[in-house]
Amino acid sequence: MAETIEWRAARLAAARDLTPDIRLIEIETDGAFVPPAPGSHINVAVQIGERADRRSYSVVGPCQDGRYRIAVKRLPESRGGSAYMWSLAPGARLTVSTPGNHFALSPHRPDYLLVAGGIGITPIYSMALALQEAGVPFRVLYGARGRADLALADDLAERIGGRLECFVSDEGRRIGFAAEIERLAPGGELYVCGPIGMLEDAKSAWAASGRPVGGLRFETFGSSGRFATKGFTVRIPRLGREIDVPANASMLDALEAAGVEMISDCRRGECGLCALTILDKDGIVDHRDVFFSDEEKASDAKLCTCVSRVAGGSITVDTADRMAP
Ligand code: FES
Repeated sequence: MAETIEWRAARLAAARDLTPDIRLIEIETDGAFVPPAPGSHINVAVQIGERADRRSYSVVGPCQDGRYRIAVKRLPESRGGSAYMWSLAPGARLTVSTPGNHFALSPHRPDYLLVAGGIGITPIYSMALALQEAGVPFRVLYGARGRADLALADDLAERIGGRLECFVSDEGRRIGFAAEIERLAPGGELYVCGPIGMLEDAKSAWAASGRPVGGLRFETFGSSGRFATKGFTVRIPRLGREIDVPANASMLDALEAAGVEMISDCRRGECGLCALTILDKDGIVDHRDVFFSDEEKASDAKLCTCVSRVAGGSITVDTADRMAP
């Protein structure tokens, strides 16, 4: 469902690097400040070459001083959004949205397990501070490849102490979801924000635990898949078109740039609005969304074009859905 947000003129007030490739950016908006609830994101208008686009970033912290803070990871395979954000200096003018929230924290649960992978710490950080403030039981598990990649970990440890546990895969430590879910009190909820592989591990362990389906909430950032990100070709027989998707662009970006009319909202694999029907494929569909179920992904009937890709080949799709009323 499309969220109700307003766009505001804004200014990049400050920026500092949290890790070699994660930058914390502080943004001041013109006009009234709308406080973000834990798990919220803001959209930021970005310029990718000639094309205007937008990116969605989780808000870091409660922002009591009236500044939105976001953390932007510089990705070597960036579609252009992170490179644009990293190019901005303090004082730069921006256009940002008021906060939206697809990852809200449920109140009054007996226990909470918050799990972050990499840059997924951003909404989890805000949730942890809110739960700490509320004085309710919770734990945070934070996984990253190297110790230097643990953005905000020291800051969070200072605020929540032993409730934070870090797992560095280069040091041989990974989150064991089955055991961690076992420790969660009955009626407790699990919140996960991380790469798609982490979400899938969490989903399998949660399903195996027999806990209610609604007790697992997750969000991803649409940049991670099972296969390396490479270019591929899209064929659309209905329009008589063949369009190349470069490695640094999403399929949705490439189709829009080629003039194909598309519908989209979240652009991070959550709402399903950008999905197209798959007619044929030469290669493996790398589903990177959290909208379709595992069964739907296995059937390869549709793909979310904003994040999903094809590994090693081409795909033939139909745009009939775009013409629906
Ligand atoms: S635009 Fe929401 S899933 Fe693609």
